[in-house]
This record gives sequence, structure tokens and C-alpha cells, in this order.
Amino acid sequence: MKAVRIHEFGGPEVLKYEDVPEPQPGPGEIRIRIIAAGVNPMDWKIRKGLVGELPLPMIMGLDVAGVVDALGQGGVFFQPEEEVFAKVSIGEGGYAEYTVVNSTQAARKPRSIGFVESAAIPTAGLAAWQCLFDIAGLEKGQSVLIHGAAGGVGTFAVQFAKWKGAFVVATASGTNIEFLKSIGADVVINYTNQNFEDIACNMDVVLDTVGGDTFDKSWGVLKPGGFLVSTVASIPEGAAEEHGVRAQTLMTKSDGKELAQIAEVIDEMRVKPIVTTILPLSDAQKAHEMSESRHTRGKIVLLVGEDPM
Ligand SMILES: NC(=O)c1ccc[n+]([C@@H]2O[C@H](COP(=O)([O-])OP(=O)(O)OC[C@H]3O[C@@H](n4cnc5c(N)ncnc54)[C@H](OP(=O)(O)O)[C@@H]3O)[C@@H](O)[C@H]2O)c1
Repeated sequence: MKAVRIHEFGGPEVLKYEDVPEPQPGPGEIRIRIIAAGVNPMDWKIRKGLVGELPLPMIMGLDVAGVVDALGQGGVFFQPEEEVFAKVSIGEGGYAEYTVVNSTQAARKPRSIGFVESAAIPTAGLAAWQCLFDIAGLEKGQSVLIHGAAGGVGTFAVQFAKWKGAFVVATASGTNIEFLKSIGADVVINYTNQNFEDIACNMDVVLDTVGGDTFDKSWGVLKPGGFLVSTVASIPEGAAEEHGVRAQTLMTKSDGKELAQIAEVIDEMRVKPIVTTILPLSDAQKAHEMSESRHTRGKIVLLVGEDPM
């Protein structure tokens, strides 16, 4: 099969579109014929060696949507030809024509959208869901400040928070202000010419996907007992107690049951994956260059097969 692998860590040029053996499903696993693969910042962080010395060569990619093609022995919840989406483990490979995944990591894809939009969901959708609901416990009527709202995680977070009935404040640059209002943000702060800490206050939850100064300044906008959750920053020891709030760094879990919940919300037409760029699998280098700019809107997806929708 065709796949995009790395044989060494480095720049986008280490991504090689090449022939590799098809994977075989083991016990409890399904094999997916991939139609579309999502791109995440984690992919280029892995490629650069920022995530550690992982075994090489490695097929890149974590998010897939496609069709169940073969079943491993026992314990699998799917039938051949079912349309699924999944977050695969590092090294299993999403940038490929086939991948294998434990069946607990997959779910039936939303009926109302195609494979391209479904492939945009797993990492970013799960990250947003787990930050807002599993970690921070966001509830109807509460307020949430979402940093990096125009990105992959942010566009899901804005829509999930709105679906829950929260008041949503978002940060983005000027070109994304009207867009974020159109997907449900109540207030959008242009971080290029406004200080969010002068505008937002008394928030129940802050979701930080940016880190650095943005993370450091977020403590002060929370109400006492509020929750700061970050996808990027480690929480300095004692900082939450010092500020009288709670705080946690996300480690996204691959969870087929949560993907199924997200699929339901999408099929209620309350949330829509925002895909702004679709490229062929062979253009993974370009996809990484775009993602590394840190200013893409929504998601980039690689097309592997033919999406009928
Ligand atoms: N811990 C985990 O398990 C986990 C899971 C998922 C993601 N992550 C991490 O979370 C981060 C975000 O992921 P992502 O997929 O959302 O990334 P992304 O799609 O690349 O985010 C790009 C967005 O960030 C916005 N942005 C950049 N600088 C900003 C700033 N100073 N203030 C506000 N917005 C800013 C940009 O908006 P403008 O163009 O308007 O500036 C752009 O829309 C990444 O570092 C990723 O690796 C971690």
C-alpha cells in the first residue's frame, strides 16, 4: 500500500510517500481502508523529534476515517464495510491506505457528514471534549474563554461549549473574528490588538491551546475555584493553589465511546467539523508546512480514497 513514513526526524522533507506492507489486524483489532486522514500539530511535533525517540521508520498520522476492511480474532464491535472513524496510536499510521486499530478506539462515523469531515474529528474533537467536559466539567450557564479558538481544537471547543449552553469568549486574530461569531462565539477578542486579560474576567473555565504568555496571563481571568485546562502548557507546582483555582494539562485519550457521543452531536446538526484544506496523501509535506505556520483555520485533511459526500 501507499503510505507517508519518516525514516529520520527532521523538516517536512523527511516525509516520504512510499510503498509499505499492508498491516494485518491482531486480536481485538479492525483494519480500516482509509478514505481520509486528519492532520494535527502533534504530527509535525513527532516528525521533528519533539515527542522523543520513537521507533523508526514510522507511518505518520493519528486520525482516520474509512471503511472496515478486515477483523482480527475476537472482541471486535464492527462488521466489514461499516463506515468508521478513529484516533490511532502513534506509529500505527493514519497517512496510509490501510491502518489497524483496537476496536475500542473506533466509532461509527457521523451519518450526516462525509469521510473528509469525519477524519477532521478524532484528535481535535476528543481534545476539546475532554478538556471542556471530562476535565473542567463545563456546564450550561457557565462562561468559558477559549484561546486559539480558530484552530483545530478551538473550532470544536467553541461549538461544543455553545451546544452545552455556555457563554463563549474566544481569542483569535482579526481575520477570524466574524468566522468565530458564525460558529457560536459570543465575544471574540482580537489578541493582536487587545489584551484578553483586560476584557475577560470571572470565567468559570479557560481552555488554553496556545501556551506561553497566553497561559501565564490566564490565571487572572478565572473566578475563584475556576478551571484552567491547557493542551500545551505544564502546570507549575503549586500554581493552582496560589491562584485559588484548579488546573490540569490534557493528555488526549483515544476513546471510541466518546467519538460515538461526538458523532451524535454532529448528527443533531449542532456541531460541524471545519475543514479548510484538503490535499492528496502525497502532499503531506505541504500539509505539515501549513500546520507549522500555527495560523490555519479549522483542520487540514489528506484525501486517500474517494469520498462520495
Ligand atoms: N495535549 C493533548 O493531548 C493535545 C491534543 C490536541 C492538541 N494539542 C496541542 O494543542 C495545540 C493546538 O492544537 P490545534 O490542533 O488547535 O492547533 P492549530 O489548528 O494549528 O491552531 C492554529 C490556531 O491557533 C491560533 N493562534 C495562534 N496563536 C494564537 C494566539 N496567540 N492567541 C490565540 N490564537 C492563536 C490561530 O488563530 P489566528 O490565525 O487567528 O492567530 C490558528 O487558528 C497544539 O500545540 C497541539 O499540539 C494537544
